[in-house]
Amino acid sequence: AACGSKQNAESESTGASGGDSQKEYLVGTDASYAPFESMTADNQFVGFDMEIVQAIADKGGFKIKLINTPWEGIFATLNSGDRDIIISAVTITEERLKEYDFSDPYFDAKQSIAVPKTSSVQKFDDLKDKVVGVQTGTTGDEVVTKLLGADSGNIKRLETTPLALKELENGGVDAVVADNGVVNNYVKNNSDKGFKTVDDASFAKESYGLVTKKGNKELLDKINAGLKAIKEDGTYDTIYQKYFGE
Ligand code: ARG
Repeated sequence: AACGSKQNAESESTGASGGDSQKEYLVGTDASYAPFESMTADNQFVGFDMEIVQAIADKGGFKIKLINTPWEGIFATLNSGDRDIIISAVTITEERLKEYDFSDPYFDAKQSIAVPKTSSVQKFDDLKDKVVGVQTGTTGDEVVTKLLGADSGNIKRLETTPLALKELENGGVDAVVADNGVVNNYVKNNSDKGFKTVDDASFAKESYGLVTKKGNKELLDKINAGLKAIKEDGTYDTIYQKYFGE
């Protein structure tokens, strides 16, 4: 559900609940990126990021309201004032740092390749003469664009990562490049479909951060304080184990 008018938000309808001065911030996420953020069948947000941002808010002393937000244009919602925070498995990059502020890093990632088990692809370079699916505007898009060339007709850019993976299932692409956590999760949970992951040492280390509008120091400080607190008190580790442990 998008963010319509919210006069009737139940959590805010209690009126005189004295002494509750915590600010509520609007949090945008592209909830199509399991295990970081996705929607359950009954429209609840679930995932690692969803628990991390709630824990950060609890410790940082603020409230949040999650809003499902398309990846395309997600950062611009910070400048328009429609969102205060983005948490969406967002990689901290030089380019993005020019326009937005990031929290301290909270998760390490890198790119990974999903291909059919029968594929001959063994390394990233082998994708040069293949048709590759990516989510538009992601770091996966960036590395593939670099490898195949900006004017390559062999890059299929999709609005979401699940749509790119659908293309892989349909044979519309030979491979999908996306964050390792998402690729691993997909291959593991769809073992019947016969895919495997291919990793490559050339993929750079990436770090995820929460994103805020440039110069919103008050909020960024609260976020970083909350993040520090959940790392120190074990909350971060508990959530990490739940999604990535074993
Ligand atoms: N980490 C990658 C990036 O920042 C992909 C993030 C995509 N996130 C999402 N929720 N779709 O570009």
